[in-house]
Amino acid sequence: MTFPTTRLRRFRATPALRALVRETTLEPGDLVAPLFVCPGEKIRRPIASMPGQAQLSIDEAVLEAKQLADLGVGGVILFGIPEKKDAVGSGGYAKDGIVPRALRAMRQSAPGLLLWADVCLCEYTDHGHCGVLTGERVDNDASLPLLARAAVAYAEAGADIVAPSDMMDGRVGAIRKALDAAGLAETPIVSYAAKYASAFYGPFREAAESAPQFGDRRGYQMDPSNGDEALREVALDLEEGADMVMVKPALPYLDIIHRVKERFGVPVAAYNVSGEYSMLKAAAERGWLDGERAALEALTSIRRAGADVIVTYHAKEIAPILGKKFP
Ligand code: PBG
Repeated sequence: MTFPTTRLRRFRATPALRALVRETTLEPGDLVAPLFVCPGEKIRRPIASMPGQAQLSIDEAVLEAKQLADLGVGGVILFGIPEKKDAVGSGGYAKDGIVPRALRAMRQSAPGLLLWADVCLCEYTDHGHCGVLTGERVDNDASLPLLARAAVAYAEAGADIVAPSDMMDGRVGAIRKALDAAGLAETPIVSYAAKYASAFYGPFREAAESAPQFGDRRGYQMDPSNGDEALREVALDLEEGADMVMVKPALPYLDIIHRVKERFGVPVAAYNVSGEYSMLKAAAERGWLDGERAALEALTSIRRAGADVIVTYHAKEIAPILGKKFP
């Protein structure tokens, strides 16, 4: 049927009609808020390149987590900034490291909130790479037991979900095995399966103080030109026991999110990364666009592409207006 029989504008006429045929939903519970936890007390150190975000000491991070829980946000994902860094990233898997301590504190005071722990060594190594080095190369197999130790330390401290973001081959299997051996067979793994070597991580590296001190991450993160390879990464992580797979970044990789969802039909997360957030904030600060509407549209597009869950710095500002905007 064509015009004038078919008029697609009929369902666009009023808020109620638009709501009736809306295909994609976005709810606070779909969002996971990243938190950067640092040593000290009563610290809220703003991150210049990420307006509205800050490094938080554990007491402050606990308050933040409670607020997010009250807003109905689905969870938080913790990144740690350790007291000191070393070549092997030992702060990342110490049982009393910054993230386990934060997890224990949050577990007590925000009992219902899902606590995700990012598993990677880059915040904890003095060279800033995501694994340990042999010469100047990140040594895949030598990194696996350390990542597995980190995952166990976080799960023991109360993490509901561990999320390896290091991109070493075989880490999901190594982590699954270690968790099971530690009696943590029920702890799910959300793997950053298709994680690209992206320029959009720039602000995060300021936030987490994790910029590589030499070279870059192209030796282990994916080439932005590749799509089929992302499906292979996802297939391998699922075989190794991943319970949910993540695509990262989100907006420049909506095609990948879509392909992963279509092909595998498993729970999919997408990470709306620091640079995606900062771009919108910078433009909004200049009055170049409506930051709130742009964020809603961006997050909705990530859901429409196929993501069940979105890790996003917008969580706190967007959660309260969900369901009220886009009339
Ligand atoms: C750690 C990690 C990174 C991000 C999440 N986990 C940075 C990186 O790989 O350099 C980036 C998140 C963001 O940009 O918001 N490996």
